[in-house]
Amino acid sequence: MTTASFTLQDFDAAAFLRDYWQKKPLLIRAPWAQWFNPVDPDELAGLACEPLVESRLITHRDHAWELEHGPLPETRFAQEARGPWTLLVQSVDHHLDAVAALLDPFRFVPNWRIDDVMVSYAVDGGGVGAHFDHYDVFLVQGLGRRRWELGALCDEDTPLLAHDGLRLLAEFEATEEWILEPGDILYVPPRFAHRGTAVGDDCMTYSIGFRAPSRAELIEAWADDMVSDLSDSDRYTDPHLAQQDNPGEISVDAIAQLQGMIAETLLDRSQFARWFGQFNTAPKNPEIDWKPEQTAAARDIGQLLADGHSLIRNPASRFAYLREQDSAVMLFADGHCFECTDDAATFAQAICQETELSPRHDLSSDTLELIAALYNEGSLGFDIDA
Ligand code: SIN
Ligand code: CO
Repeated sequence: MTTASFTLQDFDAAAFLRDYWQKKPLLIRAPWAQWFNPVDPDELAGLACEPLVESRLITHRDHAWELEHGPLPETRFAQEARGPWTLLVQSVDHHLDAVAALLDPFRFVPNWRIDDVMVSYAVDGGGVGAHFDHYDVFLVQGLGRRRWELGALCDEDTPLLAHDGLRLLAEFEATEEWILEPGDILYVPPRFAHRGTAVGDDCMTYSIGFRAPSRAELIEAWADDMVSDLSDSDRYTDPHLAQQDNPGEISVDAIAQLQGMIAETLLDRSQFARWFGQFNTAPKNPEIDWKPEQTAAARDIGQLLADGHSLIRNPASRFAYLREQDSAVMLFADGHCFECTDDAATFAQAICQETELSPRHDLSSDTLELIAALYNEGSLGFDIDA
C-alpha cells in the first residue's frame, strides 16, 4: 500500500525546537513542495456518523454555543444550519492512512508525545470559539481559509464561560491574527489563548496534537499500578517504639518511616520505566482492532517477509522503546512490553522509526517471534491485510 507522503521543505527542526517548541507561536507559510488536502469533507462527515469515532458538532447561535456529540445522524448535514457551525472529528489518523501520513513530518517530536490528528470542517464563520489547550498543536490548514487570532497565556485561574461541555474563554483579546491558506501551519504552544474562525465555507483544519501527562495523572496511575502488586501484610512496623511524653504526637521518626514506605516504592526507576512505557502506549482507540482471525506463528511471518510483503504499523497503535544496558531495548506497543536483544532490538528500533518496514535480510527466530506477537496483538499487519 502506498500513501502519498508529506514533507516539510526548508524547515529546520532543530532551530524550531530550540526557539519555538513550548515557548512561542510560529506561523509557517506554505512549507510543502505541493499541498493536497488528505480527506474530503464528505469522508469526514461519514466518519462523524460512525459510532466508534469521537466527534462533536459545535454551533454558534444567538451568542450561545451549542454542542452535540457524535455519532451524528446522516441527515444532520442536510439540515438548514441554525448558525455558523463546525464539525470536529478526533483521531482521524487512526482511521485514515492519508491523515496518519500527515504526522510523519512532525516526527522530530518523539512518538510518546504524539496524541492524534483532529480534523475540523467549518462553514463560513464557524469555529470552536476562543479557548486554550494544555497541549502543543500544529494547526495545518487543509482546505479553504481560516482566521487565527492569538491572545494571552492562560492558566487555571483564567475565567471561562459557563458551559457544560466547552471550555471557552470568558474574555479574549487578540494580540496577533493571520488568515491561513491551504498548506499554511500555525504552531501554538500550550496555554496560549487562540480562536480560529472559518473565512468562507469549506474550511478544513488538521490539528496535529501532542500530549503531556499531568503530575496528578502520573501519580494516580503509577500508584494504582503499584498497589496491585503490594501485599496487605507489608505494613508499618515499630518494634523499637519508645515511650512518648504526649501520646497525641505523631513523631518525626514515624513520619519519616511512613513517607519512606511510599518513596522507596514509588522511586524504583526501572519499574517506573517499564510501567510508563506500557501506560503511555496503551491504545486510545482499542476498537481499531487488527487482530488476525487466525494467529500466525513465527514461520508464517518468515514466509510472508520472504515473499516480499511489508509490515505496516496499525495507525491506531502506539510504539515506543526504552534503551537498556548493552544492546537490549524494551519495546512497548499498545500497552505491551517486549524485552528485545540483538537483531530483535534492531528491529524494535526500526519499527518505532518507520510506519512501514520491509525487512529483507534473514531475521533471527527471536525477531520472527517478536513480529508474530505484534501481529497477533494487532499492532502490526502486512500490506496484504490492509
Ligand atoms: C479547529 O480546528 O477549529 C480547532 C482547533 C483548535 O483550536 O485547537
Ligand atoms: Co485549540
